[in-house]
This record gives sequence, C-alpha cells and structure tokens, in this order.
Amino acid sequence: MTETDRSGRPADAFVPEPPVFLLSAAEARAAVPDLSRLLKSCVEDGAGIGFILPLSEEKAEAFWKDKLAGVEDGSAFVMVAKDGDNIAGVVMLMLATQDNGPHRAEVAKLMVHPDHRRKGLARKLMTAIDGLALSLDRWLLVLDTVTGDRAEKLYPTCGYKKAGVIPDYAYDSHGTLDATTVFYKDLR
Ligand SMILES: CC(C)(COP(=O)(O)OP(=O)(O)OC[C@H]1O[C@@H](n2cnc3c(N)ncnc32)[C@H](O)[C@@H]1OP(=O)(O)O)[C@@H](O)C(=O)NCCC(=O)NCCS
Repeated sequence: MTETDRSGRPADAFVPEPPVFLLSAAEARAAVPDLSRLLKSCVEDGAGIGFILPLSEEKAEAFWKDKLAGVEDGSAFVMVAKDGDNIAGVVMLMLATQDNGPHRAEVAKLMVHPDHRRKGLARKLMTAIDGLALSLDRWLLVLDTVTGDRAEKLYPTCGYKKAGVIPDYAYDSHGTLDATTVFYKDLR
C-alpha cells in the first residue's frame, strides 16, 4: 500500500537532494539501530535534545520506535544525511495535527554525528526540510533550541526568526536547567 501523508498525498512526493534522503516508514524502521547510535553519540557529546545522561541503547531505540507511529500515519517525517551508507545526520518534521494548524509544523531532533560536523550537513537538512514542508503546504515552521548552544547560531542563518526565550525550560544532559530559544520561519 502506498504510504500517504495526512492530506492523502504520497509521502515520497518530495525528493530531497543527496546526501539528504527522506525515509519511508519501512526505511525508518530499518534505520532505528543507526538512528539510535546517532542519538546516543550526540547526547554523550552534550547535545540538549531531551535526554539526560546516561542514555541506554534501549532508551534510544524506544525513542525512535515511538516516533515510527507518526511516520506510519503521515504526521511525522524523518530525513537523514548520509556519508556513503552511514547515517551522519537526521532531522524530523512533525505536522501540527490540531484543526487550527494545517499550515504549521515543528522541526525537531536535528542532529549531526560529532565526527561529521561543520561540513554543512545540518544546513542541507534544514534546506530539505523547507522543501518537504512546502510540498505538504506547511509554510509556518517552529522549533526551539537550548539558549547559547551552537544550534542557536545555525537557525538565523537558515532564515529563522527568534520569537523569544523561556528561562529554565529544560535540564541539560548533565542535569542543569537551561533556557530555550523559540524560533519560527514563514516560508510564504
Ligand atoms: C547543531 C548541529 C546540528 C550543527 O550541525 P553541523 O552539520 O555541524 O552544522 P553545519 O556544518 O551545517 O553548520 C551550519 C552553520 O551553523 C552554525 N554552526 C554550526 N556549528 C557551529 C559551532 N560549533 N559554532 C558556531 N556556529 C556553528 C554556523 O553558522 C554554520 O555555518 P558555517 O559553517 O558556514 O559557519 C550539530 O552541532 C549537532 O548535532 N549538535 C547536537 C544536537 C543539537 O544540538 N541539535 C539542535 C537541536 S535544536
């Protein structure tokens, strides 16, 4: 059966430029071990992406398996950046499912393996996210990131505007409270 998004379009209608690839639900399922290793490497390197150390392989796998339901029902999309056959980076697009948000989506879990940073992979993933979102008529993108983190420097260079800062929003991977900066991008 062809996988479709929430508007009934084929989920593979958007084709990003390599080295970025949009995973089908079956590909995302098969990629869970690789995505889990990527998540673990990033968290162990200090990424503030929702986890506190130590992060077990089981917990990392459980996270991605939980996301598969959204990929299967067309409300979430996983795009990866590859180095050869290896997954070097990932980003997710999560469609707003509320009746009042058919134009909106959240960009989440952007991460690039520590060995592959500063080669432009995050920027390529963020460019591909714009194309994917537009292909789904989602023109308002939102995201948040740890205030002061390197990712906070990335998003304005990708056209995101800063909406504001929420103090003491989340614990970092070592258990200290950090502020978060909320960004948005209007693709119209
Ligand atoms: C943030 C992250 C995704 C950047 O990935 P990357 O592939 O290294 O980023 P790119 O090479 O595409 O860099 C794009 C731009 O981002 C900014 N940037 C990225 N890393 C930076 C750093 N360490 N210091 C300052 N600016 C940085 C720069 O503006 C850079 O452009 P430039 O290289 O032309 O100067 C990566 O460091 C990462 O995975 N961090 C951990 C996870 C995380 O925090 N994700 C964000 C969740 S909201």
